[in-house]
Amino acid sequence: TAAGVLAAVPAGLVIAAQPRQATEPTRPFTVPLRVPRPLRPVRLADHDLYRLTTREADVAILPGTTSRVRTFNGALSPLIVARRGRPVVIEQANALDVPFSMHLHGGHVPAHSDGHPDNEVAPGRSRLFHYPNTQLASTMWVHDHSHHAHAENIYRGAAATYVLTDPAEDRLPLPKGQYDVTLQLRDAKIEENGTLVYDLHGFQDRPTFLVNGSPRPYFEVAARKYRFRLVNTSNERAFVLRLGEGEEFTHIATDGGLLPAPVPSRILQVWPAERQEIVVDFSKYPVGSKVVLQTMMTFPGEAPEVLRFDVVRSAADPSSVPGRLRPAPDLGTPTVERQFAMSFDPASQQHLINGRPFDVNRVDFRPRLGTTESWTIENKDTAFTIPHSMHPHLEHFRVVERNGKPAGPSEAGLKDTVTVMPGESARILIRFTDYTGMFMFHCHLMGHLTMGMMGQMEMVR
Ligand code: C2O
Ligand code: CU
Repeated sequence: TAAGVLAAVPAGLVIAAQPRQATEPTRPFTVPLRVPRPLRPVRLADHDLYRLTTREADVAILPGTTSRVRTFNGALSPLIVARRGRPVVIEQANALDVPFSMHLHGGHVPAHSDGHPDNEVAPGRSRLFHYPNTQLASTMWVHDHSHHAHAENIYRGAAATYVLTDPAEDRLPLPKGQYDVTLQLRDAKIEENGTLVYDLHGFQDRPTFLVNGSPRPYFEVAARKYRFRLVNTSNERAFVLRLGEGEEFTHIATDGGLLPAPVPSRILQVWPAERQEIVVDFSKYPVGSKVVLQTMMTFPGEAPEVLRFDVVRSAADPSSVPGRLRPAPDLGTPTVERQFAMSFDPASQQHLINGRPFDVNRVDFRPRLGTTESWTIENKDTAFTIPHSMHPHLEHFRVVERNGKPAGPSEAGLKDTVTVMPGESARILIRFTDYTGMFMFHCHLMGHLTMGMMGQMEMVR
């Protein structure tokens, strides 16, 4: 419920009850939403090949200015659409002057292509990444995982969306084609002259919210159903979204793809690195309506507006949201228990998991293939009211409990990132299936990750 969500919002954040006037230099809703078209691969016999060059580019973000950003192929928020069963190979050429280690967040990929910090691509070099696409349909994203540059590479713009489709999902009557739209959300501090100001945490005085790289844009829609794939690529910003005056939409998918059943919702939390998918039916609004998507979690002085939907035309709508989407995942019975205590040490200014900061020379544990594990993630940061998340690479999981009680229907599907509020806990089930090798697990708040909140697990037979 909304009340439950709001109770869980960290202290120090303001809940905007009413839309307020924007207090930043740019007025909201003056720029149209950028809608990325899927990149075109080279189609080879047994895989699709993409060439992604990581490089700086001057991109128009605020009206009348350009901003120097870090990109894949010169664009913000590019989109790759892949199909289950058809592998993708990406040749990444690094034209940045910092290392880059490409990671497919949510991807079930072999260790050599997972973007482990030890596999950085140095400036001027290139490397092939193999994505087998054997997993179920889901919305993923691609970002850097290098040792010291990752937080800045993400903040400065290098984030691609990677949508994996599959035949079972294609057969569902959900909105498709131009009515299936990816929305990458983030905050950024951009000065009036267009300069993007880096901040590890992303929280700065009067940031602007970007959607696919467009600042608080408007999006012209038809009066029918749309599927929106929301991806939060912020370093640390959570979005707690509300549509219009709190109108209903349908929550259909999370990080690992479709929920077992749709969940009617009026509020949607999207924490850093999470994906949430919703269907919005604009047919209930008369043509000419303007419907604002805003975040209810802002710092003092921040404007809450994220995006405005302008209903500009009517349209036929053969789509619908079926009552059953995808069977609930069966992850088996856990035979191993692990605890993860997330905390901040003010003396060392480090964020720790089980009292220890990341050490590339330490393997924290070794899961066995074929085993289901039960992980309890506990946020110990009651004194600092800092939220933390847990993101294991390689395998999706299911959230089974929050604070000892069964998790709700919005968490009944597959996840790869779970956020836990100060003093709270989550229990997840995770099953290790096929790949061996070294993989990371970490908090996805980039400041915390940079300041130690990461470990590595080695999957073994
Ligand atoms: Cu978005 Cu280590 O991941
Ligand atoms: Cu954290």
